Amino acid sequence: MAKHAARGAHQRAAWSSKLGFILAGAASAVGLGNLWRFPTLAAKYGGGTFIFTYFVLAFTFGISLLLLETALGRHTRQSVIGAYSDLRPRWKFLGILSAAVPFIITPYYCIIGGWVVKYLTSYVAEGPASVMADGFFGAFITDPFFTYVFMIIFMLLCIIVVALGVKNGIEKANMVMMPLLLVMAVGISVFVLMQPGALEGAKYYLVPDFSKFSPELVINALGQMFYSLSLAMGIMVTYGSYLDRKESLTTSVASIAGFDLVVSFLAGLMIVPAAFMALGLGEGGTMAAGPSLMFVTLPQVFGGMGGAAQVIGIVFFVLVLFAAATSAISLIEACTSIIQDGTHWSRGASLLACSVFVIAAGCFINAGYNALIWMEPLGPGTQLLDFFDFLSNSVMMPIVALFTCIFVGWVMKPKFIIDEVRVSSKFSLAGLWAIMIKVIAPVLVIAILVANVLPMIFPS
Ligand code: PHE
Repeated sequence: MAKHAARGAHQRAAWSSKLGFILAGAASAVGLGNLWRFPTLAAKYGGGTFIFTYFVLAFTFGISLLLLETALGRHTRQSVIGAYSDLRPRWKFLGILSAAVPFIITPYYCIIGGWVVKYLTSYVAEGPASVMADGFFGAFITDPFFTYVFMIIFMLLCIIVVALGVKNGIEKANMVMMPLLLVMAVGISVFVLMQPGALEGAKYYLVPDFSKFSPELVINALGQMFYSLSLAMGIMVTYGSYLDRKESLTTSVASIAGFDLVVSFLAGLMIVPAAFMALGLGEGGTMAAGPSLMFVTLPQVFGGMGGAAQVIGIVFFVLVLFAAATSAISLIEACTSIIQDGTHWSRGASLLACSVFVIAAGCFINAGYNALIWMEPLGPGTQLLDFFDFLSNSVMMPIVALFTCIFVGWVMKPKFIIDEVRVSSKFSLAGLWAIMIKVIAPVLVIAILVANVLPMIFPS
């Protein structure tokens, strides 16, 4: 312990307050996953039924893992690779595996960030009609020049914030963006709900349909939870390592999960009724999933709102931009911190190396929509981005989570985490938490892994 503390003490960045840490955790958590995946899943799995399942999972399983990761980071004062290898050198592989996840996600996440920048600028400069035009989205994402430009603009914005430092960059940016994000989410939800026909859609979103409850729903809710809470990829370990030992971990992680859930819920409240109005979901129409929901369906819904279309389009894409940027910033920070801890380079040099990698890998993955479109790595119609998304979210994150639980629950034994949590707060549920980490979480994670990977090996 002394060794960890001493190593961390002289150069490690730090949050200025608990609020800084909570907002940073929430900023990482709230992202594209909240804005498009959550509403899509909720609409598919019986609205309220899915929301309720998600809520239960997030506040049991989700916060248990959040607590584990942040306490591990704070205990070791290291980003993931150092955290695991300091505790048990043989487990360095787990640190490397966790560290690989943000390196895979960052480049493709920034490609989508670039799409958001493009939409925002188009709404501002050209107005809603251009964005609504048939084929606008498809034409843009396959553009062999401008997609790269917008991706790099988005990356540079995030890199600048990280370059300003943990306190002066990330914390300050979050202090502005996160409250605004919340205000915009509430504002757009209220506006959408006031539109004719929207209340029918809200009913569809909120009223539980228990006939939709199924193991598949639970697996999807779990997968969404991992992604949405930025678990199993070293981010929360890194963020925990910047936290002072006097700040309570239990209340912090509960606040982070709460913030994340509120934004997901609001996203559903604006998107499901909007899609409902556009498509008449009640009459058996299906809601577009993933990117086309946000980039095709919603602009059309906004377009039908007359004079408000431009304002609402701009506010909505500013909201999406903030959500995407704050998450991308956390990813870049995690990668930078991993490089820095591994090489002992300066923070600036580590960020530079991270930036070069992210830009190069982003260009490669983006080529999957133009020069490399023939690749179709997961079957007809799929692109490199889909492949890396599948690899990180469906395969690597569950594997990392499983090994993390085994490591903490069985190899190290939960006590060291419990002690770390108790340094700064009461932890009366420690016994339950230990059972969660040792038994329940591994079983759930194996279920996700099997459900994600089996269909790839044995396509039906
Ligand atoms: N949690 C973010 C979201 O919901 C995504 C993300 C994943 C961010 C991994 C950082 C790391 O979109």
